[in-house]
Amino acid sequence: MAPMVRVSTLPMRLLALRQGCDIAYSEELIDVKLSSTKRVVNEKLNTIDYISKDRAVVYRTCEQDRNNVLQLGTASSVSALKAAQHVVNDICAIDINMGCPKFFSVQGGMGSALLSKPETIKDILTTLIRNLPVPVTCKIRLLKTDQETIDLLKIIESTGVSAIGVHMREIPERPKDPAHWDRLATILANSSYSVPIIANGDIYTHQDIDNVLNQTKANSVMIARGAIRNVSVFSKDKSLKSFHQIIQDYIQIAYEKDNLFPNTKYVVNQILNENDETKTEKARQTSVVKSMKDLCTIWEMTNQYEQFLNPPTIPILMENQEEND
Ligand code: FNR
Repeated sequence: MAPMVRVSTLPMRLLALRQGCDIAYSEELIDVKLSSTKRVVNEKLNTIDYISKDRAVVYRTCEQDRNNVLQLGTASSVSALKAAQHVVNDICAIDINMGCPKFFSVQGGMGSALLSKPETIKDILTTLIRNLPVPVTCKIRLLKTDQETIDLLKIIESTGVSAIGVHMREIPERPKDPAHWDRLATILANSSYSVPIIANGDIYTHQDIDNVLNQTKANSVMIARGAIRNVSVFSKDKSLKSFHQIIQDYIQIAYEKDNLFPNTKYVVNQILNENDETKTEKARQTSVVKSMKDLCTIWEMTNQYEQFLNPPTIPILMENQEEND
């Protein structure tokens, strides 16, 4: 599953892994912010939390969050390494975001701003690879020409990264623009790599996974909106769950991991959006819901909610943090 800000938080990663996903990337976390957090062992939830000074959970992981790749937003090797070393014992790999076109990222020299700075790319990746005991990967976009993209892939390969994700769109292209599977196919037909290439863009179904692998000859795929639409796209037996069932499963995990309610509500709304289900009464109610209890009622989980209220561990994160202060 691809890194997705606000979506790829712990509950969505756990849901994807339960469906059969092999590797679930975290949402992008900015290096400086991550470095300033405090690591807290949350015994009530069985999670490891990285808490900011204003007491927000910046990153949460747990034992079942296996193969977790933490994606960093960074513009410099020094701050990337500091952030990576801070979390390294709780993750399986670090990914560097080199594709985000948003103003916030680019004006700070992060995301897709890196794609025109090969020296900075080399510096960040080699510094991380030399100093970390876990694999380092990165996620790029296509450049204007195939040759420029090949040159970039070769530079990145030479640093010793463990995989390269390729979002098959150029920097100015938006999600509604079709992903260029044909361009990655041409690139991989004209150049070979010792490092696995992960194809990303417009993969929604089990058939799309087969098609993109056949067409591009990439080693693997990375799925973003397809996972929001139906996370059972990861199922190995190609079975699909209804979005109603998926929302219920998601809410259950979000509760168990004490996910922030606004984030839980956001993800449920994203699932509805991706399924073109925004006009229903349930969707209308979900868009204005103010509590977990009401969200459970809308999604016919009142019984579960009542069970939720008597778990052996009611998560009280802040108490736990004070114990560690
Ligand atoms: C994204 N994307 C993204 N990419 C990234 O490298 N780091 C991030 O944090 C995010 N955040 C994010 C949030 C949301 C809600 C979406 C939909 C997308 C981009 C994403 O990983 C992927 O590259 C693109 O969405 C293309 O893949 P799909 O959606 O066509 O499968």
